[in-house]
Amino acid sequence: MKFSTSCLVSVASIPVLVAAHAQNDFAARHAQHLNPRQASSVTSSTSLPGTSTSTPTTSAATTPVVPPTVTSTPGVPPTTTNIPVISPTPTTPAPVPVPTTTYTFSLQSTNPTAVPLTAIISSAPSSVTRPLDHTFTPGSVPTFLPGAPPLPNAAILAPASYPTLDRVPPIDSPEVQQWIKDVANSGVTIPNIPINNLGGCPNNTAAATDPDRCWWTCGGCTRPTDVVECPTAMSWGLTYDDGPSFYTSDLLNYLDQENLKSTFFVVGSRVISFPNILQTQYMGEHQIAVHTWSHPQLTTLTNEEIIAELGWSKKVIKDVLGVTPNMMRPPFGDIDDRVRAISTAMGLTPVMWTRISAAATFDTDDFDIHSGLTTVEHVLQNWENILGNVTNRPSGFIVLEHDLFQQAVEVATGYILPDALAHQPPFTIQPVITCLNKPLIDAYIETNDNKTNPPAASGGPVTLSSGAPGSVQATSGADNSSSNSAASSSLSAGLGLAFLTSVIGIAAGLAVIRL
Ligand SMILES: *[C@@H]1O[C@H](CO)[C@@H](O)[C@H](O)[C@H]1NC(C)=O
Ligand SMILES: *[C@@H]1O[C@H](CO)[C@@H](O)[C@H](O)[C@H]1NC(C)=O
Ligand SMILES: *[C@@H]1O[C@H](CO)[C@@H](O)[C@H](O)[C@H]1NC(C)=O
Ligand SMILES: *[C@@H]1O[C@H](CO)[C@@H](O)[C@H](O)[C@H]1NC(C)=O
Ligand SMILES: [Zn+2]
Repeated sequence: MKFSTSCLVSVASIPVLVAAHAQNDFAARHAQHLNPRQASSVTSSTSLPGTSTSTPTTSAATTPVVPPTVTSTPGVPPTTTNIPVISPTPTTPAPVPVPTTTYTFSLQSTNPTAVPLTAIISSAPSSVTRPLDHTFTPGSVPTFLPGAPPLPNAAILAPASYPTLDRVPPIDSPEVQQWIKDVANSGVTIPNIPINNLGGCPNNTAAATDPDRCWWTCGGCTRPTDVVECPTAMSWGLTYDDGPSFYTSDLLNYLDQENLKSTFFVVGSRVISFPNILQTQYMGEHQIAVHTWSHPQLTTLTNEEIIAELGWSKKVIKDVLGVTPNMMRPPFGDIDDRVRAISTAMGLTPVMWTRISAAATFDTDDFDIHSGLTTVEHVLQNWENILGNVTNRPSGFIVLEHDLFQQAVEVATGYILPDALAHQPPFTIQPVITCLNKPLIDAYIETNDNKTNPPAASGGPVTLSSGAPGSVQATSGADNSSSNSAASSSLSAGLGLAFLTSVIGIAAGLAVIRL
């Protein structure tokens, strides 16, 4: 089902609370990322008469970020750059309006070794991570990936030959200048869309409602080139963003134990800090994909800066693994037709997470436990709401989760994944490339034989017509609409206004408030 643009605009403007929450959420998330070193102060008061066994959480966290203690983690190089810089903290210590909330989640199964819910809080002391189960020596051959070269030696990775971590790379380097030429020669037309202001939808009102830009953030516009779900019902394209980190090893060990494979959208700056963890992810047959160099809002950057962000993250991944991903996820889901075109010109297919209305996406909000912007109970309620929406869904789905902070990994390995594994009817849990019914070789530029995942056609705006590589619509060929027409602006799965008004509060990651 598709919304026409006029319908979309009016829907977005009617439920004021939905819009307000969405805007606050966007602003809060961006504030967090732009002010990484300020401490947060959040007080939440919750009561839990539902089926949860957890107790009320009151976290008054005015704690500076404590560098994690790591003991004998093979794969963590002795650099001083290991501390993730994406530390979420709000700009001002304004209290987050978390009302007294009734949770209705009830988990089928939890991990016997799970960290108790009462300990998965913003102010939790940094946990000691378990060492990786497996590490791989340079020259190891990824036999599961025909055509891939032997594993490079991560120890010779020289951070000095890459841009400064967690900053948009300069565009005057020879590398970026070459990538700019490559994009110009790709045959892909980059639409002349203005650069957005920081501050999300409220600070970009014209852009937010402009169907020609198809800006996903404000209402959920997608193009057929975007991967937004898995085609098969009950199929879950498992993804974790923002790593590798100190806690990725804990997640990997759990995934190994349960024989699960995931897609990891990795940040180039984190790859510099944790190259051995990236190698273990890759050699463990997980899918590696691009999540930029410094995690900016891509629509706020110039074309050249976007090229630098994507180019450097592709390069560092190739330098560590020997192969280059061909999928990307825009940080914050911040993508419009300009970012789409540059991604396609650089051989990268955008992968979003599933959206069920203008205001609700399959976002667990696990990222925000660390900062105190949400609680683990809220996250599990979000998870329960996702489950409630997938059982009768005709297609599969993709959920936003993260492996940067320990709280997110603890909720994944202790609660969400065990619950998902116990679900009836069972889920098929797979990396995105696999849920698209494509072999793993299709996920990397060097190993892709172009048979089931041909590279994006060059020439003309990329947002046109019948779907790009990796797109769930890639084989349908039905949508012939022009890129710059309102008709081609669509929600991936629109639901009616009546439904929309009932999901007030969800956009901000707030749990359902029992009215
Ligand atoms: C809104 O955009 C203006 C112009 O770029 C910028 O100066 C301002 O900081 C932005 N506001 C927020 C809240 O980001
Ligand atoms: C579907 O998701 C929405 C938004 O999170 C939520 O309000 C609703 O309760 C969910 N439906 C079910 C059946 O769980
Ligand atoms: C697949 O397409 C890419 C981009 O056009 C090309 O560089 C590569 O050689 C092709 N691979 C094969 C096996 O044809
Ligand atoms: C697609 O475009 C072609 C060429 O413009 C046209 O002949 C064809 O009828 C269109 N198909 C659909 C499904 O609109
Ligand atoms: Zn991210």
